[in-house]
Amino acid sequence: MDRKPCDLSSIFYPMLSPLKLLLVAGARPNFMKIAPLIHAIRANNAACNGSGRSIDFRLVHTGQHYDAKMSGVFFQELGIPAPDHDLEVGSGSHAAQTANIMLAFEPVCMSEKPDWVVVVGDVNSTLACTMVAAKLGIPVAHIEAGLRSFDRAMPEELNRLVTDALADLLLTPSADGDDNLRREGVPETKIRRVGNVMIDSLVSQLAEADAVGTLQRLGLQPGRFVYVTLHRPSNVDVRENLKVIVHELACLSEQFTIAFPIHPRTRQRMGEFGLSFDGHPGIRPLEPLGYLDSLNLTRHARFLLTDSGGLQEESTYFRTPCLTLRPNTERPVTLTLGSNRLTSVATLRSDISQLLAAPARIGQAPPLWDGRTAGRIVDELLAG
Ligand code: UD1
Repeated sequence: MDRKPCDLSSIFYPMLSPLKLLLVAGARPNFMKIAPLIHAIRANNAACNGSGRSIDFRLVHTGQHYDAKMSGVFFQELGIPAPDHDLEVGSGSHAAQTANIMLAFEPVCMSEKPDWVVVVGDVNSTLACTMVAAKLGIPVAHIEAGLRSFDRAMPEELNRLVTDALADLLLTPSADGDDNLRREGVPETKIRRVGNVMIDSLVSQLAEADAVGTLQRLGLQPGRFVYVTLHRPSNVDVRENLKVIVHELACLSEQFTIAFPIHPRTRQRMGEFGLSFDGHPGIRPLEPLGYLDSLNLTRHARFLLTDSGGLQEESTYFRTPCLTLRPNTERPVTLTLGSNRLTSVATLRSDISQLLAAPARIGQAPPLWDGRTAGRIVDELLAG
């Protein structure tokens, strides 16, 4: 009889029930971290792994991001299935958004009774769902654990600290993450360095990205444009900072075309502060981009100017120089090994001159940023 490998596991491990996971995604940077995990779970189930144990998962979308361009497009491009639970919490103050996610997530935990709640990154959804699960006694696995900017003025830093203090399995992308956790007294037994799961999405989508013709569509020449994204409150919520940034971009646009997909927060603030790019044809203000378009811009830009966490890592993978408009980064390996440099409003011009004097591609990808992190995460969860 023609048996599939899966059938054998039911003979050798008849009592093993599937491991049940509740996967949480809420905001744009979460989706490229959850997608590879879902693909790795499906691969595990198809092969039934060495242990023969399959994984049953439910996907929760908190609705922290809800616009098609901030959420839906990523589900479509990354092959993420429709969420089993759509909490639709929407925007709000930090307290309101976090509390609304907690209220909506608690009954999901109680009805699904998972073996693990799996959270990614550092957004309010990460924090809220971790607190709910921990209080219900459900083990939490945190993907992208241990990152620290040491800047408690950043909401994400508070989210990281609380999440890591409560989580039971801390899956780190790089050695600095392990060191930070040890310093905070996290027992060694909880820490596993698995690599950077976001790079799994990048590696698996490169061919798709090549096929979508982003540069032609936007009228850009490889190496002749700068890819800009800005959304951190410290840059865009402070009138004087945003005014100087807009002025600097206008100057830079004399030399390079600027591709600038504008985050909803930034668009709102530019309106409130009466700022615009009128009269500067070298600047292309765009709607937020999908994942594949963003990969193409990162790969082919002369350099990036950003305050995003994810783009610091993706540019490092492509070796594209990146200026991060922040006083610190929770991703120091992008500075020590990668192509990232910190900049400030005051030093932006001289930092750009320095960057342009250096080779067009610099740095290297850190260890374990190899496209196979999600498989290692699945192994750790199964080892439990
Ligand atoms: C959030 C994360 C940040 C992440 C960023 C990526 C926190 C604390 N912050 O910041 O870490 O880098 O996402 O984008 O979790 N809005 C829309 N449509 C949407 C979502 C938001 O128009 O789909 C608007 C709303 O007016 C909202 C504002 O954007 O008030 C900001 O959204 P919010 O989720 O509060 O924070 P982000 O700045 O996106």
